[in-house]
Amino acid sequence: MQFTVAIDGPAAAGKGTISKAVAAHFGFAHLDTGLLYRATGRRVLDGEAPIAAAQALTPADLARDDLRTAAVAEAASRVAVIPEVRAALVEFQRSFARREGGAVLDGRDIGTVICPEAEVKLFVTASAEVRAARRFAELKQADPSLSLAQVLADVRARDERDSSRAEAPLKPADDAILLDTSDLSIEDAVAKAVAAVEAAL
Ligand code: C5P
Repeated sequence: MQFTVAIDGPAAAGKGTISKAVAAHFGFAHLDTGLLYRATGRRVLDGEAPIAAAQALTPADLARDDLRTAAVAEAASRVAVIPEVRAALVEFQRSFARREGGAVLDGRDIGTVICPEAEVKLFVTASAEVRAARRFAELKQADPSLSLAQVLADVRARDERDSSRAEAPLKPADDAILLDTSDLSIEDAVAKAVAAVEAAL
């Protein structure tokens, strides 16, 4: 059985948590496509040219445990504006989406560009303030010097870059279901996403 769930949205809206929970609920495979851009950004921070870095990615790059920092997120969103970088990552994502047994992919352009034929498309959002507060709670342990104001500024800058780029900008597909998680618990957000997939199975 091939069945694709496309989950897009801005940083820290809850995509990752929802995607993992939906995949676990239905026994589907899950790909966090942000990791592809983060791993490319990581290689660029280490001195490689962006397009060569994207073309050279291996599974070991995706397994690195230093991809979740603010510096790597920033580098990821910079390489993500380069059309040749995006092109280098398309086939891997499409073949993952077509794997037997169902797949959940989360990112920015899954429903619009990577898998326009996905059986279910969700666009997960939350206000910038709510997303910054969530990201701050995640990051402050590792980096006590971080301020909420700085995280909010970073979230807004990344939203702006992701939404305004010419190639595959962050936007809901016309047929996406919008899920605003600003006032939802994790359980309620997951339940709504599971119900949307259930309705399409
Ligand atoms: O989702 P995550 O924060 O890991 O993504 C890091 C960056 O990678 C995003 O800010 C965005 O610029 C880029 N990205 C993208 N397309 C995707 C996934 C991520 O452009 N499908």
